[in-house]
Amino acid sequence: MAFDPLLSWRAEFPIVETCTYLVSHSLGAMPRRTAANLQEYADRWATRGVRAWHEGWWEIGRTVGDMLAPILGVARGTISMHQNVTVAMGVIASCHMFDGPRRKIVMTDLEFPSNMYLFEGFRRYGADVVYVPSDDTVRTNLDRLLDAIDEYTALVPLSLVLFRSAYIQDAAAVIEKAHRVGARVILDVYQAAGTVPLDIGRLEADFAVGGSVKWLCGGPGACYLYVRPDLAAELWPGLVGWAAHANPFSFATGPIVYADGPERFQSGTPNVPSIYAARGGYEIVAEIGVQAIREKSLRLTRRVIEHAQRAGYRLNTPTKDGERGGTVVVDVPNGEAVAQRLLEQNVIIDYRPGAGIRIAPHFYSTDEEIERAMQTLEAIVGEQVRA
Ligand SMILES: Cc1ncc(COP(=O)(O)O)c(C=O)c1O
Repeated sequence: MAFDPLLSWRAEFPIVETCTYLVSHSLGAMPRRTAANLQEYADRWATRGVRAWHEGWWEIGRTVGDMLAPILGVARGTISMHQNVTVAMGVIASCHMFDGPRRKIVMTDLEFPSNMYLFEGFRRYGADVVYVPSDDTVRTNLDRLLDAIDEYTALVPLSLVLFRSAYIQDAAAVIEKAHRVGARVILDVYQAAGTVPLDIGRLEADFAVGGSVKWLCGGPGACYLYVRPDLAAELWPGLVGWAAHANPFSFATGPIVYADGPERFQSGTPNVPSIYAARGGYEIVAEIGVQAIREKSLRLTRRVIEHAQRAGYRLNTPTKDGERGGTVVVDVPNGEAVAQRLLEQNVIIDYRPGAGIRIAPHFYSTDEEIERAMQTLEAIVGEQVRA
């Protein structure tokens, strides 16, 4: 086996000593330094009290957004932090009116459900939510999606990597069509950031959202919202709070005077402890570099695919490297029960209905872990067949 320099990071992730951890598409492993970061947060609160706001806490969203900027491929000073993707999407939606002819929100039927639930809620403000049907649960139908985006379209929420299959969508084609007809694209990079190299600025996405729970190993509560800098000043979010004011500590009453920078899209008080928790993962991903993570991910996911193909399992993931994010979805009979047996044997994966067992190596995974996971899977499926 060739030397794998990324394995030196294993020591930083306690959980990999206790199990075969292949679930980073759901919850990335916690870096050891996160405990120290959270301790630092508690110490600051304990010792500096209210003074901590002016010693870094108030600006923490911008500071940490700047850490994320190179990972996302966007300029510094363009990211605001939020509690979760749903809230960030809500802020974007609240910048738009849906009572005129341009009221369509177009997305594929393979989007993450909460992206659907949120925009369904905007029907009461006039939005017309259009779901573009796919031919299967792996890929969207690009031509159909492009045809649905027209001069009546306001927004196109688009997952760069689909959560159900890890299929990488053709964001450039969607953005090109949307811009040609005057629509805006919200790129959801949650299943990409930290495992697929991103160049969101060059793609000219109008908005990008994502969180830290998965490949960024940052835990819950720290989600990022990027807004294209030339667009930001034209937007006046309705879902807004005092942290978005140009001068929040003036406590001016009445209508808000919007801040110029990313704070414009902020709601209220920043999510300080979650951001402390998230920083460790961002530092590590940035230090390794997403390109190196991607190369390793492709190698290990290919290995999973080869095993699954040899065993004759159905794959609900693209087999072509260029079409696949960091996860492989293996569909075996009685998938949910098989997933449960894998968990009992300390192979940590998850199961999604209509998709299958999702298996996701990350930079801290070893080739041996893939072998162990796939052999365990084959043994469980074999037992079921014989039973
Ligand atoms: C692609 C994608 N978008 C959005 C979400 C949900 O984000 P949140 O819970 O932060 O609203 C997920 C969560 O798994 C996801 O995979």
